[in-house]
Amino acid sequence: MIKLEGITKSFGSLQVLKGIDLEIDKGEVISIVGPSGAGKTTLLQIMGTLDAPDEGTVFIEQTNLSRMKEKELSAFRNKHIGFVFQFHQLLPEFTAVENVMIPAFIAGTSTKEATARAMEILEFMGLTDRASHKPNELSGGEKQRVAVARALINQPTVILADEPSGSLDTHNKEELHQLFFDLRNRFGQTFVIVTHDEGLARITDRTIYMIDGEIRKE
Ligand SMILES: Nc1ncnc2c1ncn2[C@@H]1O[C@H](COP(=O)(O)OP(=O)(O)O)[C@@H](O)[C@H]1O
Ligand SMILES: [Mg+2]
Repeated sequence: MIKLEGITKSFGSLQVLKGIDLEIDKGEVISIVGPSGAGKTTLLQIMGTLDAPDEGTVFIEQTNLSRMKEKELSAFRNKHIGFVFQFHQLLPEFTAVENVMIPAFIAGTSTKEATARAMEILEFMGLTDRASHKPNELSGGEKQRVAVARALINQPTVILADEPSGSLDTHNKEELHQLFFDLRNRFGQTFVIVTHDEGLARITDRTIYMIDGEIRKE
């Protein structure tokens, strides 16, 4: 599903990734843990084609992404990869359902179809009655679930999440983590989650430890 081979990345004289090899199967929920500055975010960004490696190859679903040009890459990303960040990054002037629909519009989906799909996902998340609210009228947990819904709208095969529960309280955190597993069980999606949360790391299928730009042990 996802295969990284010999990924290196430097920022100036600082080598942040020192040759990462990693294979992730379809439907796996894996966590990436490690100290701040270990290179976790950089690795996730490269996995998601938001950044390019200096060396090495990224394959998603047998497609070699290193050979793609930017335009092709952004179309691939929009269709196959969903992102969830620590801070929801919802657009404040749009309602929850409109925020969820945006990636579908980018993919050329009609308003009717995008609305139907967005409402279906929001319903699955128990957010039907929040759909017409703007982000500032939603709780932290609700905002993050709307951000997950937005990541799902184009039915991507891979969801990449960077400390998605980092800004949530315990209750909302647990609810969000359960949601990841519910989604995997229902839609078979693959989740790669960078986290500092030990509780989450413990329940994922596999935990990858990163230290100083390398994978130490699994
Ligand atoms: N765009 C950038 N320019 C320069 N240095 C960067 C950039 N992005 C990350 N770094 C540096 O790379 C190292 C790893 O960062 P990051 O991947 O964000 O680690 P983590 O997510 O594990 O905390 C850090 O020392 C960080 O300061
Ligand atoms: Mg980070």
